[in-house]
Amino acid sequence: MKTKYTIEDMDRIADEIRGRISVQPAIGLILGSGLGPLSESIQDPTIIPYHELPGWPLSTVEGHAGELIIGKLEGKAVLVMNGRIHYYEGYEMSQVTLPIRVMQRLGIEIVVVTNAAGGINQDFNPGNPMLITDHLNLLGMAGPNPLRGPNLEEFGTRFPDMSQAYDRKLIETARKVAKELEITLYEGVYICLAGPTFETPADLRFLLNAGADAVGMSTVPEVIVANHGGQRVLGISGITNQSSLYGEAETTHEEVIETGKLLAPKMMKLIRGILRAL
Ligand code: HPA
Repeated sequence: MKTKYTIEDMDRIADEIRGRISVQPAIGLILGSGLGPLSESIQDPTIIPYHELPGWPLSTVEGHAGELIIGKLEGKAVLVMNGRIHYYEGYEMSQVTLPIRVMQRLGIEIVVVTNAAGGINQDFNPGNPMLITDHLNLLGMAGPNPLRGPNLEEFGTRFPDMSQAYDRKLIETARKVAKELEITLYEGVYICLAGPTFETPADLRFLLNAGADAVGMSTVPEVIVANHGGQRVLGISGITNQSSLYGEAETTHEEVIETGKLLAPKMMKLIRGILRAL
């Protein structure tokens, strides 16, 4: 499988998608673990299984279907990624972030990224969403940054600014919509680790002290590449479990998936509200 992609590779996929749809998607939506049900409300969907896209990396994780769904949600043309791939599966960062590049070649200007995350902030109750106001790129800080390697000038600059990785206007919109719809929406810093192990209690105390509110194994690579390519990003974590700072409770993938199911309707309501407000 390919691990390095040229613009021509990206365009080959973008062209394949373009050839199957009649609307130009304006917003990309990436669904995290357990949030697949969100994709069921897309109207007039065109569904493209990932394996039908030339060179598209395929996911191996339970809870991550592999398909693109292009259609309408709240009147907005969206391209939904139902399932993503992760670094812990053994993929290169170029593969993890390829979908973002394809979205950029398709002219998508806004990306809404969701994930399942552990609540390090002990005030967070699992089952509620958290607006990502900033991130800690622990996974890439001293290693695999997705922009490592020759800079693709067509997309953006060699040394991209990350002072507003999460678009301030979109954050403001999300806050307003959550208030209007009376949805509890926490806010905080998301930290990305490589996984696939969940954290030890010592890891979690370290992460808490580093300023993280929620922890997960995705999102940050995509957000970096989205920013590089000039897209506006909104990030929402679904808090699926409370991190046990002293090892009081175990964390399991089953719990993440189960709470993700409870979260899906709330996330859907919030995302629909945000789309209406855009
Ligand atoms: N840690 C890391 N990733 C996660 C967690 C967690 O507790 N919950 C959901 N994704």
